[in-house]
Amino acid sequence: MEALKEKGINPGLAVIIVGEDPASQVYVRNKERACDECGIYSEKYALPKETTQEELLNLIDKLNKKNDISGILVQLPVPEHIDEKTVINAIDPKKDVDAFHPVNVGKIMVGNYDFVPCTPAGVMELIDESGIDVSGKECVVVGRSNIVGKPQAMLLLHKNGTVTICHSRTKDLKAKTKNADILVAAVGIPNFITGDMIKEGAVVIDVGINRLENKKLCGDVEFESAQKVAGAITPVPGGVGPMTIAMLMKNTVKAALVNKTK
Ligand code: GUN
Repeated sequence: MEALKEKGINPGLAVIIVGEDPASQVYVRNKERACDECGIYSEKYALPKETTQEELLNLIDKLNKKNDISGILVQLPVPEHIDEKTVINAIDPKKDVDAFHPVNVGKIMVGNYDFVPCTPAGVMELIDESGIDVSGKECVVVGRSNIVGKPQAMLLLHKNGTVTICHSRTKDLKAKTKNADILVAAVGIPNFITGDMIKEGAVVIDVGINRLENKKLCGDVEFESAQKVAGAITPVPGGVGPMTIAMLMKNTVKAALVNKTK
């Protein structure tokens, strides 16, 4: 970080949270802590749940123009009276470290991008660092959200994987998942993928973070049965989660570079 700062590149992240969703509060705290650990300047805006859309848009506008802020993140979900799409569209695409803005989504589609959404980017980093070659592999993504499923599929496709996206209407899901060399679970349903749905030796990446009634965290994959079949598997917690935060830090540094040349 010091080397960057000597070159006049000063990353700064603004994190906005509206309301008191407990999970969001934990995520935002983790993001702030990561900034501190990396020496990245950060500002946190914790707004009451009654905040109007106009007030939120005014804050985003101010941050878009603020020179010491290179990245802006609005923690989702926002309260129901605020339109998520309008909020995302208001963020300067050059400061959109989540890569949720349609401009950045489009850039990912054509394979010419500055920012990759943090969770799919973290998954790709895990695959890459583990020496797993995606090219020609059967990749199955379970979940089609804008935040994870859709961009995840695109990133795997850019690495020449043969990609299938499955979702709640998919017929015979097990036949699809059982065919996967690389299986990414991002459905948000605890223990949804069980060992019998996994091919022997497959790479299983669990994006889910679900809180059970007993307060314990668990993923979308039933770890006990899955680990007996998988060749490699990520745990929850401690798998994709920390990678997501690491990718946010990377995007914030990238944003400082992009904004310096804007
Ligand atoms: N809520 C759940 N995941 C995310 C994320 O990656 N970014 C933001 N802004 N909100 C989220």
